[in-house]
Amino acid sequence: SRTIFSGIQPTGVPHLGNYLGALREWVKLQRDANHGDQLIYSIVDLHAITVKQEREQLAKRKKELFASLLAIGLDPKRSIIFEQSRVPEHLELMWILSCNASMGYLGRMTQWKSKLALSENASPFEASAPNKPALKLGLFSYPVLQAADILVYGTTHVPVGEDQAQHLEFARDLAAGFNHVYAPHEGVEILRSPQTILSPAKRVMSLTDPTKKMSKSDPDPRSSILITDSKEEIRKKINGAKTDSLVGISYDRERRPGVSNLIDILCYMADDNTISPETLARDMGAANVSMKALKELVADTIDVGLRDVRGRYEDIMSLPIDHLSGLSKDGKSRARTEARKMVNTVYAALGLEPGF
Ligand code: TYM
Repeated sequence: SRTIFSGIQPTGVPHLGNYLGALREWVKLQRDANHGDQLIYSIVDLHAITVKQEREQLAKRKKELFASLLAIGLDPKRSIIFEQSRVPEHLELMWILSCNASMGYLGRMTQWKSKLALSENASPFEASAPNKPALKLGLFSYPVLQAADILVYGTTHVPVGEDQAQHLEFARDLAAGFNHVYAPHEGVEILRSPQTILSPAKRVMSLTDPTKKMSKSDPDPRSSILITDSKEEIRKKINGAKTDSLVGISYDRERRPGVSNLIDILCYMADDNTISPETLARDMGAANVSMKALKELVADTIDVGLRDVRGRYEDIMSLPIDHLSGLSKDGKSRARTEARKMVNTVYAALGLEPGF
């Protein structure tokens, strides 16, 4: 049997990259789960505070995210859905892993670097300017908490987008290193090494700068489509998506990133793997489809694909808040029961069991 775990930060309603790269896979895994498989999905609020958050905003965004997860089709009866901060076992395992995590390895990871945007030769440990604050320990050790999230459930599979692949590699290395030191015999696994599941839509690009991934931290709302955007909003954003001035439609992610991203989105939304973006672009090119017509088609396809999600989201948000709180509390209890077992096992392996 499989244990599937994944997480998403509560930075508001998810965008199309989150949806195609991860969330839709979560729902598919739920649909295809066998008896005995376990699905665990977390709103990782403790990860969110590695960058500054406003208190009211964060609470609101957690609610929106919870509602979004239900709206895409996650079923709290079949999947454990919970808030990370309600399950302190993640933090307990994180500390143990921290004692075995190499600073050098963490220093080579890309995420804190991209968040800090340091100039060359500047030390990350000192503030170099008022707008360039020093690197915080939490941001630096972000991947250790992520590893704990995964390893605390004995996870076998983690469905994520490509930007998370490096973090999962780190989690596997931490698990192997831990087992090597603390398992009673060579080859015994206390912490299980998880596999990465990458969806075909592993990297959806920004609409305003198609050389960058679609990202929640992009301040420009036109750069991404939210899964709750109205037909009109989708149409406007796709219409304004950056393309190029070359004539006709063709697929070339290097030289035509904007057009190629739109073609990719069309293929991902169709989700039947029968047509490749190259073939689709070639057919459109041959049929002299204009950029305007392509954009209309992309907008319509997204609108139709997300219509049900949008409707369910509105319904869920209009329910009394107790409904969501109740579901979250239930998810927390079930998650804690699982996580506690692993923390106890790990404590015992270290000689930290209760009593003398
Ligand atoms: P987060 O919240 O940034 O993103 C959630 C999921 O969406 C995927 N994703 C994308 N996929 C394709 N194209 C894009 N443009 C795009 N943008 C985001 C991400 O890969 C991710 O799967 N560190 C994680 C959260 C996390 C986690 C975990 C994930 C914490 N603990 C344990 C898995 C397992 C993050 O910040 O995801």
